[in-house]
Amino acid sequence: MESSTKVHFILIPLMAAGHLLPMVDLAKLLGRRNNVKVTIMTTPVNAVRVRANIDREVQCGSSITVQPYRFPGVEAGLPEGCESSEAVPSPELMYNFAKATTMLQKPVEEVLEKIFTPTIPTGFIVDKNLPHVSDVAKKFKVPIIISDALNCFSILCNHNLFHSKVYESASESESVVVPGLPHRIVFKKSQLQEYFSMDMGEFSALREKAWKNEGEAYGIIVNSVDELEEEYVKEYRRATGREVYCVGPVSLSNKDDKDKAQRGKLDSKAQEEGEYLKWLDSWPARSVIYGNIASLNNVPSGQIMELILGLEASKRPFIWVLRDAHKIEELNKLLKEDGVEERVKGRGLIIRGWVPQVLILSHTAIGAFLTHCGWNSILEAMCNGVPLITFPLNCEQFYNEKVVVQLLEVGVRLGVETATNFEAEDKSGIQVRREKVKEAIEKVMGKEDEESERIRERTRNYGEKANKALEKGGSSYRNLSQLIEDITQHFHAKG
Ligand SMILES: *[C@@H]1O[C@H](CO)[C@@H](O)[C@H](O)[C@H]1NC(C)=O
Repeated sequence: MESSTKVHFILIPLMAAGHLLPMVDLAKLLGRRNNVKVTIMTTPVNAVRVRANIDREVQCGSSITVQPYRFPGVEAGLPEGCESSEAVPSPELMYNFAKATTMLQKPVEEVLEKIFTPTIPTGFIVDKNLPHVSDVAKKFKVPIIISDALNCFSILCNHNLFHSKVYESASESESVVVPGLPHRIVFKKSQLQEYFSMDMGEFSALREKAWKNEGEAYGIIVNSVDELEEEYVKEYRRATGREVYCVGPVSLSNKDDKDKAQRGKLDSKAQEEGEYLKWLDSWPARSVIYGNIASLNNVPSGQIMELILGLEASKRPFIWVLRDAHKIEELNKLLKEDGVEERVKGRGLIIRGWVPQVLILSHTAIGAFLTHCGWNSILEAMCNGVPLITFPLNCEQFYNEKVVVQLLEVGVRLGVETATNFEAEDKSGIQVRREKVKEAIEKVMGKEDEESERIRERTRNYGEKANKALEKGGSSYRNLSQLIEDITQHFHAKG
């Protein structure tokens, strides 16, 4: 009996690429296990994207279904069809997007009632940023696992800050020591996750709700690797009494180039990736710098120019991705006036479209990655032994910078001091000059310098550990097995 009983997980991701893609990767990893059935529930536009991504998986025998629910975007003041944070046309509308996520109970409930009565699922995996959806899941009285797109270090920083309130008495420019951590970790208040330094208005309630839900959940699932932050995993588990499952790096579920190329492809205008790869093939191993600071940002054009001119000054080959840069016309004008693109022709590539990042980072020609410090990007780089140059913008990216620079020492920081404002015109101005960029590149790519060699070696070592973690018998592989076992037992114990 037991072996033929399918364990059924319902996965409900946040509608933002940095959350959706890892959840799809997780669905693939779960679907490849014996007797596991997965349903991904998302909005219609995202359902189409997700289906394209898992089709091949289903052909290989996995039992993964995509189940759309209605998205109340228009009611929340968003344009028709705008169903993911990337599609939000202006920063002010991000609030409307957040609002829409608080209106999902009904649409989700309708679908759940229709398709899962009376065969209730075994467990839910819900994004932390959808606490209202967790409320719906609670009605089924099956375990809820909260999925947090952050690493344990960042989750623990937020957890300890939230509960200690040490940030409240500090001014913007003052330093805050995060209490209760295995290491001494200091941030400027302005570098903390924005809800500690900004008035979030009606959204502080959303935040509080998310924390409350996390505290009540069965456990959390994290796209990280036990070996990368063991002390923080343990401390988080101790501090919350929740089970923590580190199952990453989930992007390694994309085994071959076709998967890698497909991953994250969100629009049909996507550029032909073949030409970049051919270009990369023409460079020696570890010689090219890849620069990409995420599509959603408000970085001033002058600052982006400095980064590009720093790449030029390095005299090394580089790729810079401009996709959806803030004020793209202004930036294009600056680029034209300066003439940098002409000067670096053949050696420097400025790409104005989507790029298959996982495929680029896994190319042996890549020798360094200038990144905004999204955790997914960092993991992808480390898995390929690529050291990092950090340019954090906001959210938890300053925490990730600490992981890279202070805890793992797999990269160098450019020295960003202040977060880039999300909504309005950014006032942080130019924080990093081109000389600094050139210097940082030498620090991770220089051939003469012993410390550079150590950075590269550490990156390779951690990368190996991360890759091994997902193989059969590795820590992430076993954590995922444990999750399946725990949920199944819980279900039967209750039954
Ligand atoms: C995850 O893996 C680590 C390392 O093997 C282990 O110590 C930990 O107990 C595992 N966690 C769970 C929930 O199984």
